[in-house]
Amino acid sequence: MIDEIFKIFSEINNLKASNPEEFEALRIKYLSKKGIINSLMSEFRTVPPEQKKEVGQQLNKLKSTLQDRLNELKENIAETDVQSKEIDLSRTSYPIPLGTRHPLSLIKEEINSIFKRLGFSIAEGPEIEDDWHVFSSLNFAEDHPARDMQDTFFIQRNPEVVLRTHTSSVQTRVMEKTQPPIRIICPGRVYRNEAISARAHCFFHQIEGLYIDKNISFADLKQALLFFTKELFGKDTQIRLRPSYFPFTEPSAEMDISCHICGGKGCNICKYTGWVEILGCGMVDPAVLDNCGIDSNIYSGYAFGMGIERIAMLKYQINDIRLFFENDVNFLNQFQSAF
Ligand code: PHE
Repeated sequence: MIDEIFKIFSEINNLKASNPEEFEALRIKYLSKKGIINSLMSEFRTVPPEQKKEVGQQLNKLKSTLQDRLNELKENIAETDVQSKEIDLSRTSYPIPLGTRHPLSLIKEEINSIFKRLGFSIAEGPEIEDDWHVFSSLNFAEDHPARDMQDTFFIQRNPEVVLRTHTSSVQTRVMEKTQPPIRIICPGRVYRNEAISARAHCFFHQIEGLYIDKNISFADLKQALLFFTKELFGKDTQIRLRPSYFPFTEPSAEMDISCHICGGKGCNICKYTGWVEILGCGMVDPAVLDNCGIDSNIYSGYAFGMGIERIAMLKYQINDIRLFFENDVNFLNQFQSAF
């Protein structure tokens, strides 16, 4: 038996395992219940008493040397495993998922870039406003319904602090500080106290435009809006101006575009009229210019304003405004290649 033990001793240094399977095979061979060490242990009973001491010592030594060697092999495997993971150049890379831009940002950027090409620059202002900038400077009568709690979110009553209901307030701020020529667009979030539905939300986004200089006429307004429409909806799109009313413009109009879905023939998007309304506009009321320190005898100007959600809904055929604000990735991912 002692010969057998020495024979195994001589093998120990040559034991090799380059992967977990080979290691497991060695462990089973030597150290498992039915392995060589255990069978030597059971054979030990048959060793003559005078040899028991020496054989016993050697057997214990063999067992611990084997255990040490196997532990060493195990560590080597773990190490090469980590190394090989670090330098495996052949492994295919994980695809990096691309984020998407929000459809409202896409449309806002597109509208901004069209007006920038016409020489407009961007102006921004606060969402929390006072009565003067949202209403009074813009000619809203004391009893105008927009000033009502039904339409406006009040933060404070006296003096009045409100969430702006349109970004015309930014135009007032610019006119107060700047003498013409003024050529700005004002993108931003606005708030209205409306019941949330598929068509309306208590907050949404607008882009309003203002151009003030000497000799600005309604023809300039019409031409700028026609250019804008063709850029955004395609060169065959037509516009139609209908008389309307806003406190801060005179004359005022609402602009329709020929339905880009049916080309004007009639469909459910345009409610079978061939036209869809997209913005309000008009010549700035001289009283508004005077309110802001601009001489209405010298200068005139036009203004327009549109809802970004409405344009995005038309352009992408989205039928529920709430989708813009729900952060549903299934909705947002559809705009991956939009720009
Ligand atoms: N401020 C108007 C609105 O919020 C839009 C508008 C702007 C209309 C400028 C005419 C001129 O509905």
